[in-house]
This record gives sequence, structure tokens and C-alpha cells, in this order.
Amino acid sequence: MSGRIRNAALAAKVVPPEVAAAVIRPGDTVGMSGFTGAGYPKEVPAALARQISAAHEAGQDFRVNVWTGASTAPELDGALAAADGIELRLPYQSDPVSREKINAGQMEYIDVHLSHVAQMAWMGFLGKLDVALIEISGITPDGQLVPSASIGNNKTWIDQADRVVLEVNSWQSAALDGMHDVYYGTALPPDRRPIPLTRPGDRIGVPYLQCPPEKVVAVVETHAPDRNSAFKEPDDASRRIAGHLIEFLEHEVRRGRLPASLLPLQSGVGNVANAVLAGLGTSDFEGLTAYTEVIQDGMLELLRTGKLTVASATAFSLSPTAVAEFNAAAADFRDAIVLRPQEISNHPEIVRRLGVLAMNGMIEADVYGNVNSTHLMGSRIQNGIGGSGDFARNAYTSFFVTPSTAKDGAISAIVPMVSHVDHTEHDVAVIVTEQGLADLRGLPPRRRAQQVVARCAHPDYRPLLEDYLARAAHHSYGQHTPHLLAEALSWHTRYLDTGTMQVSAAS
Ligand code: COA
Repeated sequence: MSGRIRNAALAAKVVPPEVAAAVIRPGDTVGMSGFTGAGYPKEVPAALARQISAAHEAGQDFRVNVWTGASTAPELDGALAAADGIELRLPYQSDPVSREKINAGQMEYIDVHLSHVAQMAWMGFLGKLDVALIEISGITPDGQLVPSASIGNNKTWIDQADRVVLEVNSWQSAALDGMHDVYYGTALPPDRRPIPLTRPGDRIGVPYLQCPPEKVVAVVETHAPDRNSAFKEPDDASRRIAGHLIEFLEHEVRRGRLPASLLPLQSGVGNVANAVLAGLGTSDFEGLTAYTEVIQDGMLELLRTGKLTVASATAFSLSPTAVAEFNAAAADFRDAIVLRPQEISNHPEIVRRLGVLAMNGMIEADVYGNVNSTHLMGSRIQNGIGGSGDFARNAYTSFFVTPSTAKDGAISAIVPMVSHVDHTEHDVAVIVTEQGLADLRGLPPRRRAQQVVARCAHPDYRPLLEDYLARAAHHSYGQHTPHLLAEALSWHTRYLDTGTMQVSAAS
């Protein structure tokens, strides 16, 4: 029996990846582990992709529906998409091959709030789950499953699937054992009870996933690294965004609207979010906490230096360098990190109770504060909403950050009307670009617009936006949220047609 599989009954089910993959049949729905490139199955998806390709070469149709926690990696999303093996994907992805297929209309994609996925599955809204394919880091002598570097929806997939396939990855640190907190107390209405979590570090569940051994149809042993890409070094724009945000937080502490150690932090995915965390590392704040979705490099560094005392999340999202550092010292972090199912890490009830400070990246914001996190030019999906809505709507204060322009300055990230809405003006409190910070709390629409344009727009685009608002103030149908609809909607079309966002000043 291998060192990681300490249960004889499950050890007897070890098979090669090809045998495990053969459990998955054409048309099956497979719930896989994996969240931001951490804890996804490594060998069975690749074997499945080979079996799908062989079936296609033989003229047979073979596609599956893939549900996960969130994004995975090339070995899973990339391999299956390249084999044309995915019929429908949910709830989040960020894989370049999948993105192309989705945007070409060749793969269906449902972009879901990450805290909603488990309950949607339980409510039966998503259909039947055939197979759960879950990476774990070990099996205890009594057959409990030690989760891996992410938990995501694994509890739900194991509970709901007819058949369970396990990948036991001995590359994952053995010190992960004890870091997880799997809460089995969720229920559906009308039997739902309050979730007894009042501090980010509270442990309310058990450290292991439970699975009836008779459901496990195959176990595969792997020793393969998670594949996360490195973060970019914070550039000047990211550093300036971090600077504005930290100055604002200091101001809020002085005004008595935040405690000196702030409130639990949530930090979204992406390079700018990581730069904000780096900025907090050089700030004067102490005793910080995090109630967030992913632990990325910046957060690990804050934990290492002691600035951050505890971090609750559902997954790691570390660069290869940070993973190596973590694996070398994982035991040191065991008391400071709690990994939970994503229905708990992102739960609106808890986000509201704790008063989370939610900081997320965005594609663009409009002058009134509506935010687009997902679609380029209104129709091309980039990644997905992920957990940004779970946190933004329920946060104590919800921040959205972006450089003020994209595509080397050819596109303004501040526009008259967003080309796709993920977060409405009602869920957005503060917008930050490298130009400055617009605090929209307590402001009616026209004053919001004035603040967003004056403080966040790039100087190259500010006159265009001011001119738009001035003309809207004369010609709009209503004056509560003044708009010139035809012109607002043509803003992005101009870029698509000409490669610039120059909009005529003529009304
Ligand atoms: N118009 C057109 N294209 C834009 C754009 C805009 N306003 N803003 C960004 N882009 C393009 C970039 O040019 C880049 O394209 P490329 O890949 O061809 O170079 C792409 O969008 C990604 O932009 P980038 O600046 O690299 O993104 P980022 O790493 O800062 O991430 C989001 C920003 C919005 C994509 C990312 O935060 C995200 O996916 N958010 C949604 C999910 C989320 O918030 N999860 C966290 C919840 S816990």
C-alpha cells in the first residue's frame, strides 16, 4: 500500500489512468476537482482526452459535460477542449483553448456565481451528475479523504455522483492534512440553519471529505505538480492602484469607519489584485485577516511576515515559486490557513456577517458604476464572474480595480455604458484605477458619474466622457441617469471598427 493510501479497501482499487478514464462514458456529466489551477485531477482527464480523440477518429461521438470548482489547467480544460470533448462547461474557466471554443460557439458555457453551484446541483437545476473525479492528497486508515490544494465543490460532487474516481497525488504536501474544514451542515430550504461561523479562522466542520467506499470505482496514484502561471511583477499602474486603495483604507480608519486592523480582506484573481496585496505588505496595517476565495502569492507573503494572522479560502492560487516555498514550509501555515468548500468560502451570509472588504478586478466600469468583469466588447467571454459577485454584493465595502485603459491605451476602461453587466451600480462602492479612486457610497447617479470620470478616467478619454455627460444632461430622455443610448452603445463598436475609441463630440 502506498504511503498516501492508508486504507486497504481503497488501495485495492488502484488502477492505471486509462482504466479509470474508461469509467466515463459518452454524454456523462463529470464533476471534477480543481480551482484556479490547484487540486485538479492530472492523469485521468488526459487519458479521457486520448479516449475521446480515439473515438472521434473512429467516427464516434464522444463529449462530456464538465463541472468543476473553478478554473483548472491545460491538463484538464486544455486537453479536453483540444480533443473537442466538452459539450458543456460550468461554472468558471480561464483556459485559452476553451475560451476560443466557447467564443467560436463550439462549446456551451454556463458562468455561475461560485457560491451558487453546490445548491444549484442539490436543487436539481443542473441535471444528473454521473461521475465525480477528485484529486485528494491522501486517504486515512478509516477511508476518509484528505483534500488537496483546493476543495471547491468536491464535497457536493462526491455526494451527488453515482460513481467516484479518486486521484491521490503524493506531490501535494502531506502537511495539508488538517488544514481543511469541510462543513456538512448545509441543507436546502426550508431546513436551512444559520452557518455557525463568526470569525475568518473558525473551524466548523471536519478536516476530511467523506465518501462511502462502495461508491469509489477507481483510484489512481499520481505525483504531479499543480500548474499555475507566475504573476507579473507589479507594474507602475498596479502600484498606483494599490497606493490609492491603501490611502483610502487609512482614511477610513481615521474616520472611524474601519477598525485599525481593517475587516477581513477578499482579493480577486489577476495581477492587479496580487499587486494590491503586495502594497498591503509595505503598509502600516497589522493584524489583518482574510476571508477570501483563493490564497495567492501576495497573501502567502502577508501570512509569512505576520501582517496577516489568518486566511480562509477554498484554494491556493500560487505561482510555481510560491508553491515551492509553501510546500517546503506547509506545516508552519497549518494554523493560519483554513480551506473550505466554495459554498462556505464565498457564502453571502458569512460575507455579510464578517463585513468583508471585497477587492476584485474588472474589464470595464461605466460612468454610473456598473461593472463588466467578464466580456470583452460585450460578446467575447474572458473568464467568468467567479466569486466576484458573491463578495461584491454582500461586502462591507466593494472595490473594483483596473488600469484606466487596455490594449496599450486604445480602449478606455471607463465607458459611458458597460458592454455587459456583471455587477450593477448597486453592488459597486469604490472604483480604483491608476488615475485615482472614486468613492461612490451615498452618491446619486449624476454625482457618481462626475466622480468616476474626474477621478478614474484616463486624461486621453476624460474630455470625451465629460462631453458625453454634458450632452446627455441636455438630450437624455430622463435626467436621473442621463444617457444618449445610441451613442453609448456605439462606443465599443467604434473600437471594433477603427481600433480606437474616439467618439464624435457631435450630438
Ligand atoms: N476592453 C477590452 N479588453 C480588455 C479590457 C477592456 N476594457 N480590459 C482588459 N482587457 C483585455 C486585456 O487586454 C487582456 O487581453 P489579452 O489577454 O489579449 O492581453 C485581457 O482582457 C485580460 O486583461 P488583464 O489586464 O490581463 O486581466 P487581469 O489579470 O487584471 O484580470 C479580469 C482582470 C477582469 C479578467 C479578472 O479579474 C477576472 O477574470 N475577473 C472575474 C472573476 C473574478 O473577479 N474572480 C475573483 C473572485 S474571488
